Amino acid sequence: MAEQSRTPHTRTASYLAEPGEVHRVLLLYSGGLDTSVMLKWIQDEYEAEVVALTVNLGQPGEDYEVVQGKAIQLGAVAAEVVDAREEFARDFVVPAIKANAIYGLAYPLFTALGRPLIAKLAVEYARKHGCDTIAHGCTGKGNDQVRIEATVATLAPELKVIAPVRGWQMGREEEIAYAREHGIPIKGGAEHTPYSIDDNLWGRSSEGRWIEELDHAPDDDVFQLVTRPELAPDEPEVVTVTFERGVPVALDGEPLGIVELLERAAEIGCRHGVGIVDHIEDRIVGLKVRDIYEVPAAAIILPAHAELERLVGTIHQNQFKGELDRKWAYLVYAGLWWEPLRTDLDAYMEAVNAQVTGTIGMKLYKGMARVVTRESPNAVYDAALSTFETSGGLFSQQASPGFIELWSLQSRMAHRLRTRDEG
Ligand code: ARG
Repeated sequence: MAEQSRTPHTRTASYLAEPGEVHRVLLLYSGGLDTSVMLKWIQDEYEAEVVALTVNLGQPGEDYEVVQGKAIQLGAVAAEVVDAREEFARDFVVPAIKANAIYGLAYPLFTALGRPLIAKLAVEYARKHGCDTIAHGCTGKGNDQVRIEATVATLAPELKVIAPVRGWQMGREEEIAYAREHGIPIKGGAEHTPYSIDDNLWGRSSEGRWIEELDHAPDDDVFQLVTRPELAPDEPEVVTVTFERGVPVALDGEPLGIVELLERAAEIGCRHGVGIVDHIEDRIVGLKVRDIYEVPAAAIILPAHAELERLVGTIHQNQFKGELDRKWAYLVYAGLWWEPLRTDLDAYMEAVNAQVTGTIGMKLYKGMARVVTRESPNAVYDAALSTFETSGGLFSQQASPGFIELWSLQSRMAHRLRTRDEG
Protein backbone atom coordinates (compact mmCIF):
# COMPACT_ATOMS: atom_id res chain seq x y z
CA MET A 1 0.00 0.00 0.00
CA ALA A 2 2.68 2.48 1.10
CA GLU A 3 4.63 2.01 -2.10
CA GLN A 4 1.61 1.87 -4.34
CA SER A 5 0.29 5.25 -3.36
CA ARG A 6 3.34 6.93 -4.89
CA THR A 7 3.50 5.05 -8.15
CA PRO A 8 1.54 6.20 -11.19
CA HIS A 9 -1.47 4.27 -12.50
CA THR A 10 -3.01 4.14 -9.05
CA ARG A 11 -4.99 7.29 -9.70
CA THR A 12 -8.48 6.59 -8.44
CA ALA A 13 -10.09 9.83 -9.60
CA SER A 14 -9.59 11.97 -12.68
CA TYR A 15 -8.96 15.10 -10.62
CA LEU A 16 -6.00 13.65 -8.71
CA ALA A 17 -2.64 14.98 -9.90
CA GLU A 18 0.05 12.71 -11.31
CA PRO A 19 3.49 13.69 -10.01
CA GLY A 20 4.57 15.22 -13.35
CA GLU A 21 1.53 17.51 -13.46
CA VAL A 22 2.32 19.40 -10.26
CA HIS A 23 4.24 22.62 -10.77
CA ARG A 24 2.57 25.28 -8.70
CA VAL A 25 0.39 24.32 -5.77
CA LEU A 26 -2.22 26.26 -3.86
CA LEU A 27 -1.99 24.86 -0.32
CA LEU A 28 -4.83 25.33 2.14
CA TYR A 29 -2.65 26.31 5.06
CA SER A 30 -3.70 26.47 8.71
CA GLY A 31 -0.27 26.89 10.27
CA GLY A 32 -0.62 23.59 12.18
CA LEU A 33 1.71 20.62 12.06
CA ASP A 34 0.16 18.75 9.09
CA THR A 35 -0.01 21.65 6.70
CA SER A 36 3.36 23.06 7.77
CA VAL A 37 5.06 19.73 7.09
CA MET A 38 3.13 19.63 3.84
CA LEU A 39 4.36 23.04 2.78
CA LYS A 40 7.94 21.78 2.84
CA TRP A 41 7.16 18.25 1.68
CA ILE A 42 5.42 19.43 -1.50
CA GLN A 43 8.41 21.57 -2.45
CA ASP A 44 10.76 18.61 -1.95
CA GLU A 45 8.61 15.82 -3.29
CA TYR A 46 7.26 17.55 -6.42
CA GLU A 47 9.88 20.26 -6.88
CA ALA A 48 6.87 22.56 -7.07
CA GLU A 49 6.22 26.08 -5.90
CA VAL A 50 3.70 26.54 -3.12
CA VAL A 51 1.24 29.38 -2.59
CA ALA A 52 -0.28 29.25 0.91
CA LEU A 53 -3.88 30.29 1.52
CA THR A 54 -5.28 30.76 5.02
CA VAL A 55 -8.97 31.48 5.42
CA ASN A 56 -10.35 33.35 8.41
CA LEU A 57 -13.82 32.02 9.21
CA GLY A 58 -13.76 33.46 12.71
CA GLN A 59 -11.54 30.90 14.48
CA PRO A 60 -11.09 32.53 17.89
CA GLY A 61 -7.58 33.48 18.96
CA GLU A 62 -5.81 32.94 15.63
CA ASP A 63 -2.92 35.28 14.78
CA TYR A 64 -2.97 35.42 10.98
CA GLU A 65 0.21 37.47 10.68
CA VAL A 66 2.09 34.73 12.48
CA VAL A 67 0.57 32.06 10.22
CA GLN A 68 1.42 34.09 7.13
CA GLY A 69 5.00 34.71 8.33
CA LYS A 70 5.45 31.00 9.01
CA ALA A 71 4.31 30.10 5.48
CA ILE A 72 6.83 32.47 3.91
CA GLN A 73 9.55 31.23 6.24
CA LEU A 74 8.82 27.65 5.11
CA GLY A 75 9.34 28.67 1.50
CA ALA A 76 5.91 29.64 0.18
CA VAL A 77 6.24 31.92 -2.86
CA ALA A 78 3.17 33.79 -1.62
CA ALA A 79 1.00 33.60 1.49
CA GLU A 80 -2.53 34.91 1.31
CA VAL A 81 -4.87 35.44 4.23
CA VAL A 82 -8.52 36.01 3.42
CA ASP A 83 -11.04 37.32 5.91
CA ALA A 84 -14.14 35.44 4.75
CA ARG A 85 -16.19 35.86 7.94
CA GLU A 86 -18.83 38.05 6.33
CA GLU A 87 -19.35 35.75 3.35
CA PHE A 88 -19.35 32.71 5.61
CA ALA A 89 -21.96 34.17 7.94
CA ARG A 90 -24.16 35.60 5.17
CA ASP A 91 -24.03 32.89 2.51
CA PHE A 92 -23.49 29.76 4.57
CA VAL A 93 -24.55 30.18 8.21
CA VAL A 94 -27.69 32.23 7.50
CA PRO A 95 -29.08 29.64 5.02
CA ALA A 96 -28.30 27.00 7.67
CA ILE A 97 -30.30 28.97 10.24
CA LYS A 98 -33.22 29.24 7.80
CA ALA A 99 -33.05 25.47 7.38
CA ASN A 100 -32.71 24.81 11.15
CA ALA A 101 -29.67 22.84 10.06
CA ILE A 102 -28.70 20.07 12.46
CA TYR A 103 -27.16 16.73 11.49
CA GLY A 104 -27.65 13.65 13.61
CA LEU A 105 -29.94 15.52 16.02
CA ALA A 106 -27.06 17.56 17.46
CA TYR A 107 -24.37 18.83 15.06
CA PRO A 108 -24.96 22.34 13.67
CA LEU A 109 -22.58 21.72 10.74
CA PHE A 110 -20.08 24.52 11.31
CA THR A 111 -17.22 22.57 9.70
CA ALA A 112 -19.43 21.22 6.93
CA LEU A 113 -20.55 24.77 6.09
CA GLY A 114 -17.00 26.13 6.14
CA ARG A 115 -15.40 23.61 3.79
CA PRO A 116 -17.21 24.49 0.54
CA LEU A 117 -16.34 28.16 1.08
CA ILE A 118 -12.69 27.37 1.87
CA ALA A 119 -12.49 25.20 -1.25
CA LYS A 120 -14.22 27.85 -3.38
CA LEU A 121 -11.63 30.39 -2.21
CA ALA A 122 -8.87 27.87 -2.94
CA VAL A 123 -10.12 27.71 -6.52
CA GLU A 124 -10.22 31.52 -6.81
CA TYR A 125 -6.69 31.96 -5.42
CA ALA A 126 -5.30 29.03 -7.40
CA ARG A 127 -6.50 30.74 -10.57
CA LYS A 128 -5.21 34.11 -9.43
CA HIS A 129 -1.73 32.67 -8.82
CA GLY A 130 -1.65 30.41 -11.85
CA CYS A 131 -1.56 27.22 -9.82
CA ASP A 132 -2.29 23.85 -11.46
CA THR A 133 -3.02 21.95 -8.23
CA ILE A 134 -4.78 22.40 -4.91
CA ALA A 135 -3.42 20.67 -1.80
CA HIS A 136 -5.25 20.14 1.47
CA GLY A 137 -4.43 18.49 4.78
CA CYS A 138 -7.44 16.21 5.19
CA THR A 139 -7.06 12.54 5.97
CA GLY A 140 -8.70 9.71 4.08
CA LYS A 141 -11.03 8.92 6.96
CA GLY A 142 -12.99 12.13 7.25
CA ASN A 143 -15.78 14.10 5.64
CA ASP A 144 -13.65 17.15 4.93
CA GLN A 145 -11.77 15.55 2.03
CA VAL A 146 -15.15 14.88 0.40
CA ARG A 147 -16.37 18.45 0.89
CA ILE A 148 -13.18 20.01 -0.43
CA GLU A 149 -12.56 17.73 -3.38
CA ALA A 150 -16.19 17.68 -4.45
CA THR A 151 -16.11 21.48 -4.46
CA VAL A 152 -12.88 21.73 -6.46
CA ALA A 153 -14.01 19.11 -8.96
CA THR A 154 -17.33 20.93 -9.37
CA LEU A 155 -16.05 24.50 -9.68
CA ALA A 156 -12.71 23.95 -11.41
CA PRO A 157 -12.48 20.82 -13.55
CA GLU A 158 -9.16 22.13 -14.90
CA LEU A 159 -7.48 21.98 -11.47
CA LYS A 160 -5.93 18.89 -9.91
CA VAL A 161 -5.84 17.90 -6.26
CA ILE A 162 -3.24 16.36 -4.00
CA ALA A 163 -3.94 15.22 -0.45
CA PRO A 164 -0.50 14.28 0.95
CA VAL A 165 -1.76 13.20 4.40
CA ARG A 166 -3.81 10.48 2.71
CA GLY A 167 -0.76 8.94 1.12
CA TRP A 168 2.43 9.85 2.93
CA GLN A 169 2.00 7.29 5.72
CA MET A 170 3.60 9.53 8.33
CA GLY A 171 2.17 9.34 11.82
CA ARG A 172 2.42 12.18 14.29
CA GLU A 173 5.85 11.00 15.48
CA GLU A 174 7.24 10.90 11.95
CA GLU A 175 5.74 14.30 11.19
CA ILE A 176 7.42 15.76 14.27
CA ALA A 177 10.71 14.17 13.23
CA TYR A 178 10.28 15.61 9.73
CA ALA A 179 9.47 19.01 11.21
CA ARG A 180 12.59 18.94 13.41
CA GLU A 181 14.76 17.87 10.49
CA HIS A 182 13.45 20.71 8.33
CA GLY A 183 13.36 23.45 10.95
CA ILE A 184 9.58 23.68 11.07
CA PRO A 185 8.43 25.25 14.35
CA ILE A 186 5.79 23.22 16.17
CA LYS A 187 2.95 25.25 17.61
CA GLY A 188 2.31 24.41 21.28
CA GLY A 189 5.32 22.05 21.48
CA ALA A 190 5.60 18.37 20.65
CA GLU A 191 5.38 16.85 24.14
CA HIS A 192 1.72 15.89 24.21
CA THR A 193 -0.67 14.87 21.47
CA PRO A 194 -3.19 17.67 21.08
CA TYR A 195 -6.86 17.24 20.31
CA SER A 196 -7.67 17.56 16.64
CA ILE A 197 -9.51 20.87 16.51
CA ASP A 198 -11.55 22.59 13.85
CA ASP A 199 -13.38 25.81 14.52
CA ASN A 200 -15.06 28.87 13.08
CA LEU A 201 -17.59 31.43 14.26
CA TRP A 202 -20.42 28.85 14.25
CA GLY A 203 -18.68 26.28 16.47
CA ARG A 204 -15.70 24.18 17.43
CA SER A 205 -15.00 20.46 17.30
CA SER A 206 -12.51 18.32 19.14
CA GLU A 207 -11.55 14.80 18.13
CA GLY A 208 -8.89 12.26 19.06
CA ARG A 209 -7.19 11.20 22.32
CA TRP A 210 -9.67 9.90 24.96
CA ILE A 211 -12.62 11.09 22.84
CA GLU A 212 -12.12 7.84 20.90
CA GLU A 213 -12.95 5.85 24.05
CA LEU A 214 -16.73 5.82 24.16
CA ASP A 215 -16.87 5.09 27.88
CA HIS A 216 -14.60 8.01 28.76
CA ALA A 217 -16.58 10.99 30.02
CA PRO A 218 -15.24 14.35 28.82
CA ASP A 219 -12.09 15.60 30.52
CA ASP A 220 -12.44 19.25 31.49
CA ASP A 221 -9.49 20.40 29.38
CA VAL A 222 -11.36 19.76 26.13
CA PHE A 223 -13.63 22.75 26.76
CA GLN A 224 -11.58 25.68 25.54
CA LEU A 225 -14.55 27.78 24.46
CA VAL A 226 -17.62 27.14 26.58
CA THR A 227 -17.54 27.56 30.37
CA ARG A 228 -18.35 24.28 32.01
CA PRO A 229 -21.96 24.48 33.21
CA GLU A 230 -20.96 23.81 36.82
CA LEU A 231 -18.81 26.94 36.72
CA ALA A 232 -21.40 29.13 34.95
CA PRO A 233 -23.07 32.02 36.84
CA ASP A 234 -25.71 31.18 39.45
CA GLU A 235 -27.98 33.86 37.98
CA PRO A 236 -29.80 33.05 34.72
CA GLU A 237 -29.78 35.54 31.86
CA VAL A 238 -32.49 36.12 29.28
CA VAL A 239 -31.26 37.13 25.84
CA THR A 240 -33.68 38.11 23.09
CA VAL A 241 -32.98 37.32 19.46
CA THR A 242 -34.81 39.33 16.80
CA PHE A 243 -35.25 37.88 13.31
CA GLU A 244 -36.26 39.55 10.07
CA ARG A 245 -37.34 37.13 7.37
CA GLY A 246 -35.44 34.35 9.12
CA VAL A 247 -32.21 36.32 9.53
CA PRO A 248 -31.05 37.20 13.06
CA VAL A 249 -30.68 40.99 13.13
CA ALA A 250 -30.59 42.05 16.79
CA LEU A 251 -29.64 40.78 20.24
CA ASP A 252 -31.41 42.25 23.24
CA GLY A 253 -32.90 44.83 20.91
CA GLU A 254 -29.54 46.03 19.65
CA PRO A 255 -29.23 45.81 15.85
CA LEU A 256 -26.01 44.05 14.83
CA GLY A 257 -24.33 42.95 11.62
CA ILE A 258 -24.45 39.21 11.17
CA VAL A 259 -20.80 38.48 12.05
CA GLU A 260 -20.90 40.57 15.19
CA LEU A 261 -24.25 39.13 16.17
CA LEU A 262 -22.99 35.55 15.89
CA GLU A 263 -19.82 36.42 17.81
CA ARG A 264 -21.82 38.18 20.53
CA ALA A 265 -24.26 35.27 20.82
CA ALA A 266 -21.29 32.90 21.16
CA GLU A 267 -19.84 35.04 23.95
CA ILE A 268 -23.10 35.02 25.93
CA GLY A 269 -23.56 31.31 25.35
CA CYS A 270 -19.98 30.57 26.45
CA ARG A 271 -20.53 32.45 29.68
CA HIS A 272 -23.56 30.32 30.55
CA GLY A 273 -22.10 27.01 29.48
CA VAL A 274 -24.55 26.38 26.64
CA GLY A 275 -23.83 24.40 23.47
CA ILE A 276 -21.78 21.46 24.72
CA VAL A 277 -22.46 18.40 22.55
CA ASP A 278 -20.96 14.93 22.97
CA HIS A 279 -21.82 13.27 19.68
CA ILE A 280 -21.46 9.90 17.99
CA GLU A 281 -21.60 10.66 14.31
CA ASP A 282 -22.24 8.62 11.17
CA ARG A 283 -19.63 9.92 8.74
CA ILE A 284 -20.23 9.71 5.02
CA VAL A 285 -17.23 7.42 4.54
CA GLY A 286 -18.89 4.80 6.71
CA LEU A 287 -17.14 5.35 10.01
CA LYS A 288 -18.86 6.09 13.29
CA VAL A 289 -16.81 8.65 15.21
CA ARG A 290 -17.20 10.58 18.45
CA ASP A 291 -16.89 14.36 18.42
CA ILE A 292 -17.04 16.89 21.23
CA TYR A 293 -18.65 20.06 19.93
CA GLU A 294 -18.89 23.52 21.48
CA VAL A 295 -21.59 25.48 19.72
CA PRO A 296 -22.59 28.37 21.99
CA ALA A 297 -24.03 30.64 19.26
CA ALA A 298 -25.93 27.87 17.51
CA ALA A 299 -27.36 26.67 20.83
CA ILE A 300 -29.09 30.04 21.21
CA ILE A 301 -29.92 31.03 17.63
CA LEU A 302 -31.14 27.70 16.22
CA PRO A 303 -33.80 26.96 18.85
CA ALA A 304 -34.91 30.60 18.76
CA HIS A 305 -35.30 30.47 14.98
CA ALA A 306 -37.11 27.12 15.05
CA GLU A 307 -39.51 28.43 17.67
CA LEU A 308 -40.35 31.57 15.72
CA GLU A 309 -40.80 29.57 12.53
CA ARG A 310 -43.26 27.23 14.23
CA LEU A 311 -45.17 30.21 15.55
CA VAL A 312 -45.69 31.79 12.13
CA GLY A 313 -46.14 28.55 10.17
CA THR A 314 -49.27 26.45 9.82
CA ILE A 315 -49.41 22.90 11.12
CA HIS A 316 -48.90 21.67 7.54
CA GLN A 317 -45.90 23.88 6.86
CA ASN A 318 -44.38 22.95 10.19
CA GLN A 319 -44.71 19.22 9.63
CA PHE A 320 -43.36 19.41 6.09
CA LYS A 321 -40.41 21.71 6.72
CA GLY A 322 -38.76 19.39 9.22
CA GLU A 323 -38.34 16.79 6.52
CA LEU A 324 -36.77 19.27 4.13
CA ASP A 325 -34.56 20.64 6.91
CA ARG A 326 -33.20 17.16 7.54
CA LYS A 327 -32.52 16.67 3.84
CA TRP A 328 -30.77 20.05 3.62
CA ALA A 329 -28.55 19.22 6.59
CA TYR A 330 -27.67 15.83 5.18
CA LEU A 331 -26.68 17.20 1.76
CA VAL A 332 -24.45 19.80 3.39
CA TYR A 333 -22.98 17.32 5.85
CA ALA A 334 -22.29 14.94 3.01
CA GLY A 335 -20.25 17.43 0.99
CA LEU A 336 -22.86 18.23 -1.65
CA TRP A 337 -23.15 21.98 -1.10
CA TRP A 338 -23.18 22.56 -4.88
CA GLU A 339 -25.92 19.99 -5.55
CA PRO A 340 -28.90 21.74 -7.22
CA LEU A 341 -31.30 20.08 -4.79
CA ARG A 342 -29.72 22.20 -2.07
CA THR A 343 -30.55 25.41 -3.93
CA ASP A 344 -34.00 24.06 -4.78
CA LEU A 345 -34.56 23.46 -1.08
CA ASP A 346 -33.25 26.96 -0.34
CA ALA A 347 -36.02 28.39 -2.49
CA TYR A 348 -38.53 26.71 -0.21
CA MET A 349 -36.60 27.83 2.90
CA GLU A 350 -36.78 31.41 1.60
CA ALA A 351 -40.51 31.18 1.01
CA VAL A 352 -41.20 29.94 4.53
CA ASN A 353 -38.77 32.37 6.13
CA ALA A 354 -40.47 35.35 4.49
CA GLN A 355 -42.83 35.19 7.49
CA VAL A 356 -40.16 34.54 10.14
CA THR A 357 -40.02 37.98 11.70
CA GLY A 358 -40.20 38.59 15.42
CA THR A 359 -38.38 38.19 18.70
CA ILE A 360 -37.70 35.16 20.87
CA GLY A 361 -36.46 35.31 24.44
CA MET A 362 -34.01 32.59 25.48
CA LYS A 363 -33.24 31.93 29.12
CA LEU A 364 -29.68 30.74 29.68
CA TYR A 365 -28.73 28.96 32.84
CA LYS A 366 -25.87 26.57 33.60
CA GLY A 367 -25.71 24.84 30.26
CA MET A 368 -29.35 25.17 29.26
CA ALA A 369 -30.98 27.46 26.74
CA ARG A 370 -34.76 27.50 26.84
CA VAL A 371 -37.35 29.55 24.99
CA VAL A 372 -39.29 31.75 27.40
CA THR A 373 -40.93 34.49 25.29
CA ARG A 374 -42.23 34.88 21.74
CA GLU A 375 -43.39 37.87 19.76
CA SER A 376 -44.28 38.19 16.10
CA PRO A 377 -46.59 40.25 13.90
CA ASN A 378 -47.00 37.07 11.80
CA ALA A 379 -47.86 34.63 14.57
CA VAL A 380 -50.70 32.34 13.52
CA TYR A 381 -51.94 32.78 17.04
CA ASP A 382 -54.89 34.55 18.53
CA ALA A 383 -54.99 34.65 22.31
CA ALA A 384 -58.71 35.36 22.19
CA LEU A 385 -59.29 32.11 20.28
CA SER A 386 -56.86 29.93 22.23
CA THR A 387 -58.00 30.94 25.69
CA PHE A 388 -59.77 28.37 27.87
CA GLU A 389 -61.88 31.05 29.34
CA THR A 390 -64.41 31.99 26.68
CA SER A 391 -65.88 30.73 23.46
CA GLY A 392 -67.15 32.62 20.48
CA GLY A 393 -66.00 34.45 17.39
CA LEU A 394 -64.53 32.11 14.81
CA PHE A 395 -64.27 29.21 17.21
CA SER A 396 -67.51 27.55 18.18
CA GLN A 397 -67.14 24.87 20.81
CA GLN A 398 -70.59 23.57 19.87
CA ALA A 399 -69.17 22.63 16.47
CA SER A 400 -66.41 20.47 17.92
CA PRO A 401 -68.35 17.20 18.38
CA GLY A 402 -69.33 17.24 14.72
CA PHE A 403 -65.70 17.70 13.79
CA ILE A 404 -64.61 14.85 16.06
CA GLU A 405 -67.16 12.45 14.58
CA LEU A 406 -65.91 13.05 11.04
CA TRP A 407 -62.24 13.33 11.95
CA SER A 408 -62.25 9.91 13.63
CA LEU A 409 -64.53 8.22 11.07
CA GLN A 410 -61.99 6.05 9.22
CA SER A 411 -60.08 5.19 12.33
CA ARG A 412 -63.24 4.03 14.07
CA MET A 413 -64.33 1.94 11.08
CA ALA A 414 -60.93 0.26 10.81
CA HIS A 415 -60.79 -0.40 14.52
CA ARG A 416 -64.21 -2.06 14.40
CA LEU A 417 -63.08 -4.31 11.54
CA ARG A 418 -59.98 -5.40 13.39
CA THR A 419 -61.84 -6.22 16.58
CA ARG A 420 -65.03 -7.74 15.11
CA ASP A 421 -63.88 -11.39 15.47
CA GLU A 422 -62.49 -11.01 18.91
CA GLY A 423 -65.99 -11.09 20.36
N1 ARG B 1 -17.29 15.60 12.39
C1 ARG B 1 -17.44 16.96 11.95
C2 ARG B 1 -17.70 16.98 10.48
O1 ARG B 1 -17.53 16.03 9.80
C3 ARG B 1 -16.26 17.82 12.35
C4 ARG B 1 -15.02 17.58 11.57
C5 ARG B 1 -13.87 18.40 12.06
N2 ARG B 1 -12.82 18.44 11.06
C6 ARG B 1 -11.53 18.40 11.37
N3 ARG B 1 -10.70 18.42 10.36
N4 ARG B 1 -11.07 18.32 12.59
O2 ARG B 1 -18.12 18.00 9.98
